[in-house]
Amino acid sequence: MGAKKRKSMNVPESKVEISGFGARNYDLLLKFGSFGRYSRMLETAIAHIGIRPDDAILDLGCGTGHNDCLMAKYLSDAGKIVGLEIGEEMIEQFKRKCAGRFNVSLMRQRIEEALPFENEFDKAFISFVFHGFPDSEREKIARNVFKALKPGGEFFILDFNEFDIHAQTWWFRIVFLKGECPLAHQYITVEWKKRLLGWGFDHFGDHFYFKKRIRLLKAVKAG
Ligand SMILES: C[S@@+](CC[C@H](N)C(=O)[O-])C[C@H]1O[C@@H](n2cnc3c(N)ncnc32)[C@H](O)[C@@H]1O
Repeated sequence: MGAKKRKSMNVPESKVEISGFGARNYDLLLKFGSFGRYSRMLETAIAHIGIRPDDAILDLGCGTGHNDCLMAKYLSDAGKIVGLEIGEEMIEQFKRKCAGRFNVSLMRQRIEEALPFENEFDKAFISFVFHGFPDSEREKIARNVFKALKPGGEFFILDFNEFDIHAQTWWFRIVFLKGECPLAHQYITVEWKKRLLGWGFDHFGDHFYFKKRIRLLKAVKAG
């Protein structure tokens, strides 16, 4: 999901590190750019996660905290959400949106670097972040998630589905090919369940949105 990019991951084709106007207005741009459909899709996808009141949830690349506020509605005081984020403009918004929610916290942390968590979370969530990394970094992120989850913990990836871009409508082809980075173009060609199986996950499940162009993929930490 586009906007001005930073260069700090040293991957010039990535657009996942966003800053400036696009970052400061991230939620509004997606909401009004999609005539409200994106916000409704997020609410539906988060309902599909099946959050339990006492869940501990790790949100990787949590952005403005919009999704964390939605997830927090399902939690009791015994549950918690930890968001990981590096974008300054995003962090500022997260602090405002999540102020007063004592069980929602934020760490300034690159998600591809070693995380200080082991067998700690019931669920991990990554929304429109995974596609923006090269394959080698995606593997580091997935392995970080595996380590951070409790055995039987669930990893939810909300992102582009696997699809044939040439089978899509002309307008979607233009928006996707011009607006999204080459990493996203490659992401949709990967068989993600096979890849995740190789990293120790199984018991997959999925929900689809926007004519199957977007998927909430569930993968369970085996063991
Ligand atoms: C497209 S936004 C998605 C934000 C949020 N997950 C959502 O669905 O609204 C991508 C987010 O990932 C963050 N991000 C990018 N690279 C990151 C990294 N290496 N570590 C942590 N966060 C990162 C960006 O700052 C940005 O907030």
